[in-house]
Amino acid sequence: MERTPWRTRYLVFGSPDIRREEYEEVAACLDSRWIGTGPRVARLEEAFRTYIGAPAVAAVNSGSAALQLALKVLGLPSGSEVITSTMTFCATANAIVHAGCVPVLVDCVRETMNLDVEAAARRITPRTRAIVPVHFAGRPCDMPAITALARAHGLAVVEDCAHAIEATIDGRHCGTFGDVGCFSFYVTKNVTTVEGGMVACREPALADRIAVLTMHGMTKDARYRYRDDGYVHYDVQEPGFKHNLTDLAASLGLHQLARVEAGWRRRRELWAHYLEALRDLPLILPVAPPPTVRHAFHLFTCLVDDGATNVTRDEVLRRLHHLRIGCGVHYRAVHLLDYYRRTFPGGGPFPNAEYISERTFSIPLSPAVTDEDAADVVRALHTVLG
Ligand SMILES: Cc1ncc(COP(=O)(O)O)c(C=O)c1O
Repeated sequence: MERTPWRTRYLVFGSPDIRREEYEEVAACLDSRWIGTGPRVARLEEAFRTYIGAPAVAAVNSGSAALQLALKVLGLPSGSEVITSTMTFCATANAIVHAGCVPVLVDCVRETMNLDVEAAARRITPRTRAIVPVHFAGRPCDMPAITALARAHGLAVVEDCAHAIEATIDGRHCGTFGDVGCFSFYVTKNVTTVEGGMVACREPALADRIAVLTMHGMTKDARYRYRDDGYVHYDVQEPGFKHNLTDLAASLGLHQLARVEAGWRRRRELWAHYLEALRDLPLILPVAPPPTVRHAFHLFTCLVDDGATNVTRDEVLRRLHHLRIGCGVHYRAVHLLDYYRRTFPGGGPFPNAEYISERTFSIPLSPAVTDEDAADVVRALHTVLG
């Protein structure tokens, strides 16, 4: 098995770009002794709200929590059907299950990997209550079509924007088209707080309720009950969760968000480089987005073109690993995963998602990837597939 003579350091997939500002903010937060939910979370909420142009937001401690709380506050009756794409991370479907609903998985479009809106329309029944489009890899879904479909059938829309912080359609940010937009600040995401996330709501009352639910359901002022202006009693209006973001985490997020556009420009540069440098290999590369949308360039997904090579996707992953290049698989479709196969059999067909599941792998694209790293990725892929 080949070992790169040109790489000693393993190129970790999705490694974050952490700068001096983050170190200093974390130190300042620790020095302040207010490390739980407090003023830095409030600053991050306001900065994020302004960035995406949402009426209201609430910080949470993961993208998964964002999805779970979004579905909870929409008050969907138990057993409601919620449509989403099978080409997503398990967290999307898990949140639907946790909300007491039935996930109705539909196929994606092969080129965009986004929800097939016509397939979604065919799965609407009298029990359907919501639709959860996922802006896959940072490519915006067809939100005008999805919101029109939702309006026609009285469905709520929760956008899974885990990949799509910078994504827009006609200049409007993803996450502001539906009732709630759910963002993730996980380590590999375009903005990271290690673990964290944000909900963006069209109705400020929904964001307020989510904020309360992140902290056991305690009234909102409870997050400041240990402040130096005296203890504040709290009340509980409904049983909540422990899904609050901490100021220590927000210390990272404040500076990550301040550099979000610079990170996007760097990933766009890497994206263009990969498209050019990999075009002669037996790979199916991402298609260009239409001019009206802004792709967030979160994942650079390649499909192994098995009509042009005998090397399988898993063999590519194994050999890239030996060449010290870390890759991801986004994703094996949800309907293929054990729990979903057993619990929600049938549905489909899913020819596009299954085609992608068998062939896809994602190469390093974070702003921490240097020109030398990117050259190593390209060289390794030429070694494996050239
Ligand atoms: C599409 C999608 N949805 C939801 C999530 C969940 O986000 P988190 O890991 O912050 O819980 C992820 C995270 O990877 C994701 O990729």
